[in-house]
Amino acid sequence: MTPRPIFVVAGVGNGSGTGGASARVFLNAGYRVALIARKSDELTKFAGELKAKGEAEAFPIAAYTYKDVETAFSAIKKHWPDSEIRVALYNAGIGVWKPFLQITEEDIDKVTDSNVKGAFAFAKEAVSTFKDQALDGNGKRGTLLFTGATASIRGNVTTSAFAAGKFSLRSLSQSLAKEFGKQNIHVAHAVIDGAIATDKQRNNRDPSWADNADVRLDPESIAKSYLYLANQDRSAWTWELDLRPAHEKW
Ligand SMILES: NC(=O)c1ccc[n+]([C@@H]2O[C@H](COP(=O)([O-])OP(=O)(O)OC[C@H]3O[C@@H](n4cnc5c(N)ncnc54)[C@H](OP(=O)(O)O)[C@@H]3O)[C@@H](O)[C@H]2O)c1
Repeated sequence: MTPRPIFVVAGVGNGSGTGGASARVFLNAGYRVALIARKSDELTKFAGELKAKGEAEAFPIAAYTYKDVETAFSAIKKHWPDSEIRVALYNAGIGVWKPFLQITEEDIDKVTDSNVKGAFAFAKEAVSTFKDQALDGNGKRGTLLFTGATASIRGNVTTSAFAAGKFSLRSLSQSLAKEFGKQNIHVAHAVIDGAIATDKQRNNRDPSWADNADVRLDPESIAKSYLYLANQDRSAWTWELDLRPAHEKW
């Protein structure tokens, strides 16, 4: 029997958002799931939930640095030496919403460490892994996905720092799509254009918001779109997808 392919997701938080939903959706679709995140207590708890349903493991890191991300990928390969990483999702990303004159150097570090440096580190490991793998049934060596935001394509009054990070993430994904498409590595970026019903967003908003599918993005629905991207074949694949709820003003 062919071993199940591996899905790696970086940025899982407490499992209530897009990272966690993607882990569940890919697990249900038959993948082994490798979780990379920073908060090891939350991560271990969430990995336990997944392990009750399939093959999953937590690979905690201290920060989204080249060294930590490389160590996590090595540990994933060692943990499942008989299967291949076929889908990798970079979902981590810190948002800073402040008027420009209030933005600090520390804010810039937070935004760039999570949205830029971490994404470069993660992409390097994913692409290095994919390029030596044979073509799969869809004619590709692997799929690398990035979670973007409205701020990936539009700056606004409080998003100078965040948009700088997300624009960078988008341009990284486009550059990689062009460089590695020729090697049958599929790179895709998702503009998530609206608020996602994570625990954090639920706590910050009126309770009726999270129950209204017209106005909020459901993490599971985003995750299903990621699975759709991973299942696309090389003759018609997406570089950029945008997702927003029906009543979003845009
Ligand atoms: N929530 C929204 O309304 C919304 C809207 C549009 C786009 N997005 C994008 O969606 C992605 C997050 O997905 P989500 O909101 O659904 O929540 P999520 O899946 O729970 O993921 C949030 C992730 O951001 C990471 N993060 C938080 N603080 C961080 C820090 N200080 N340094 C590095 N990473 C940090 C966390 O990483 P750890 O797992 O390591 O803690 C966490 O996994 C981000 O790329 C975000 O820009 C979110």
